[in-house]
Amino acid sequence: MALWGGRFDGKVDPLMEAFNASIGFDKRMFAEDIRGSQAQARALAKQGIITEAERDTLVSGLDQVLAEWQAGKFTIVHTDEDIHTANERRLGELVGSVAGKLHTGRSRNDQVATDMRLWVRDAGTKLVGHLKELIKVLVTRAENELDVLMPGYTHLQRAQPIRWSHLLLSYAWSFHADALRLQSFLDRNNLSPLGAGALAGNPFNIDRNFLAQDLGFSGVLPNSLYAVSDRDFAAELLFCSSLTMIHISRLAEDLIIYSSAEFAFVTLADAYSTGSSLMPQKKNSDSLELLRGKSGRVFGDMAGFMMTYKGTPSTYNKDLQEDKEPMFDAVDTLTGSLQIAAGVISTLKVKAANMKSALSADMLATDLAEYLVRKGVPFRETHHVAGHAVKLAEDRGTSIDKLSLDDLKGLHPKFESDVMDVWSFEKSVDSRNAIGGTSRKTVLAQIEELKKFAS
Ligand code: ARG
Repeated sequence: MALWGGRFDGKVDPLMEAFNASIGFDKRMFAEDIRGSQAQARALAKQGIITEAERDTLVSGLDQVLAEWQAGKFTIVHTDEDIHTANERRLGELVGSVAGKLHTGRSRNDQVATDMRLWVRDAGTKLVGHLKELIKVLVTRAENELDVLMPGYTHLQRAQPIRWSHLLLSYAWSFHADALRLQSFLDRNNLSPLGAGALAGNPFNIDRNFLAQDLGFSGVLPNSLYAVSDRDFAAELLFCSSLTMIHISRLAEDLIIYSSAEFAFVTLADAYSTGSSLMPQKKNSDSLELLRGKSGRVFGDMAGFMMTYKGTPSTYNKDLQEDKEPMFDAVDTLTGSLQIAAGVISTLKVKAANMKSALSADMLATDLAEYLVRKGVPFRETHHVAGHAVKLAEDRGTSIDKLSLDDLKGLHPKFESDVMDVWSFEKSVDSRNAIGGTSRKTVLAQIEELKKFAS
């Protein structure tokens, strides 16, 4: 019989029973549900609502239920509507009627919110760990390939020379921000709904602070209506996941472009590529394409849940059961994606020679302008002069670094023989040595900071 069967005479349509059930997906919160129930048993005993012996029976019975789940031996029966119902039913079979005392002052409304918050805390903490692993991989590569130079792009047009390491670290900084965002989300949301009852609070003076402490929460949600109806934490986790997926997707997009024959800057390891069933020569970057593709899926999880959430009146409504699948899917997809991204990046081959030969002297036109700035010429004017130099080289069908000193002097009298020092990609990158620049010194400083963060 269903837990709520007392006031019903009619039978539930079997289709409705299946439609209503969440056990198929919320069973993955079995451990959180049991942990919450054990805290509940202790809180009831503390208040004298059950005896210490009854508490011990409930707690050890729940341990047995947990062991069955862990051993894959828990048998779900068709009346097990959700994880809460299933665990309580099984507890009753194991310990008898005392199991019926466990739900005193509690509702599935505060129970499910508690289970989810416990689950999110654990999942979020693991995600921070995966983010740190990915940062470590990026930082290790950045450190090992510090001397590899490549074109930096804006609008996908060659812009200025940069260190490959600098690009890798730019991704790492996004993941660093993601990890901080997730951590602050976790810290702010570590609050307990338990003891809020169905909506109005519990009438047994069950100590909510005691429950919170038992479950490792840092405090209680201060309003029972809010406690059972709030799902902002799910929305926020979905947003955090979506944003990280966007970072992964953009990184993947860069690497897909760089692994094309036209760029040939990187080659993916075989472990993360696939072939074509028709064209024998093909090596496709499926891993990266999936990372890019799956970002859409996680964003969809977020959007779908937001649509469900927006229409719900106070407080608990069954719509809220639709919070779990998108959240689980987003976390699973993100977890896999972070691991695959780390694998792809740690194993790809960098073709430093190709990166170097993609550097063209016109990418130093800005450096030419800066040369004149150092001789006291206003930047706006130097920008013009350097533009003329680019044009002159183009008209002559040569490259800008091949212009003679006389050619340059013809464009501006402040050019002297030391202008030839401008034509060095190494010097160009190392001149950008203010904090955050692509110079060796400032890239090394970033490496140190990120290493400290991720260790
Ligand atoms: N399975 C439900 C959910 O996931 C649990 C809460 C049910 N509460 C209720 N009042 N029917 O949301």
